[in-house]
Amino acid sequence: MKIAKVVLVTGASSGIGRAAAAMLHDKGHIVYGTSRDPARHDLPWRMIALDVTDDASAAAAMQAVLAEQGRIDALVNNAGLVLAGAVEDTAIDEARRVFETNLLGVLRMAKAALPTMRAQRAGVIVNIGSLAGRVGLPFQGLYSASKFALEGLSESLRLEVAGFGIQVVLVAPGDTATSVVDNRLRTEASGRDSSAYAGEFPRVLARFEAEERAGSPADGVAMRILAIVEGRAGGPRYVVGPLAQRVLVAARAVIPARLFQWGLGLYYGLRR
Ligand SMILES: NC(=O)c1ccc[n+]([C@@H]2O[C@H](COP(=O)([O-])OP(=O)(O)OC[C@H]3O[C@@H](n4cnc5c(N)ncnc54)[C@H](OP(=O)(O)O)[C@@H]3O)[C@@H](O)[C@H]2O)c1
Repeated sequence: MKIAKVVLVTGASSGIGRAAAAMLHDKGHIVYGTSRDPARHDLPWRMIALDVTDDASAAAAMQAVLAEQGRIDALVNNAGLVLAGAVEDTAIDEARRVFETNLLGVLRMAKAALPTMRAQRAGVIVNIGSLAGRVGLPFQGLYSASKFALEGLSESLRLEVAGFGIQVVLVAPGDTATSVVDNRLRTEASGRDSSAYAGEFPRVLARFEAEERAGSPADGVAMRILAIVEGRAGGPRYVVGPLAQRVLVAARAVIPARLFQWGLGLYYGLRR
């Protein structure tokens, strides 16, 4: 008989997090999902409040799980946001918000979970990266930067905690059909006619949106998360999503960097 795992999924109110929470719940695991506004979401698993940008909120969410269950078997760091706009058009506070959520939010949650996981000498931390964390995408530079940083954090943490019986796994989805298109933030300056990128940015953004709407179902990512939580996939990282995008990531390792960037520029119709 399979043993039920206690799992905390951040950002389980929509998209990938919701699909993962649903799948884990259906398989009989004890799921805690989070939202900044949990009362808005009537879901069959327990929803608790969490804003990953807030130290106290991160500690309290983990404490809520530990108080009820006395253990935490898996933490799925899924909560994230996307910011679109040229790098030059990004205000420092806008950049800070992306990193506070996508990188430091993961750090806060990992720090909250690790003392208990170390004491248990067992646990899994699944960090949701992105294809944009393997390939720098135009007009999503800060998002890409935060997900590249998450790759590094995940690799380092994996090495540090393996000796305590804890696994860290990064899952990098390609385009996935979720609410990400509607929830994406835009830098304030990118909306101005005076932006040097006023012509290119909307074109590239429209392309991203079309690709995301046509993306793979979130269930594919959820299935990978389930396999990791259940101990059936223990590699350091998995790329999940449309075949062409998985090939793109693999190609990066073998195609000369200059040629790879030229191809990307061509694909997005960027001026040169
Ligand atoms: N969709 C894609 O194509 C794609 C591709 C690659 C990677 N990803 C990654 O997958 C993850 C989930 O994205 P998604 O597409 O499912 O997006 P989504 O539908 O917009 O869901 C985002 C989730 O993050 C939560 N969230 C946002 N800011 C938060 C904060 N400060 N504190 C706590 N929770 C917060 C939201 O919860 P509340 O608003 O309820 O708090 C929501 O549940 C992200 O890390 C994203 O970067 C997505």
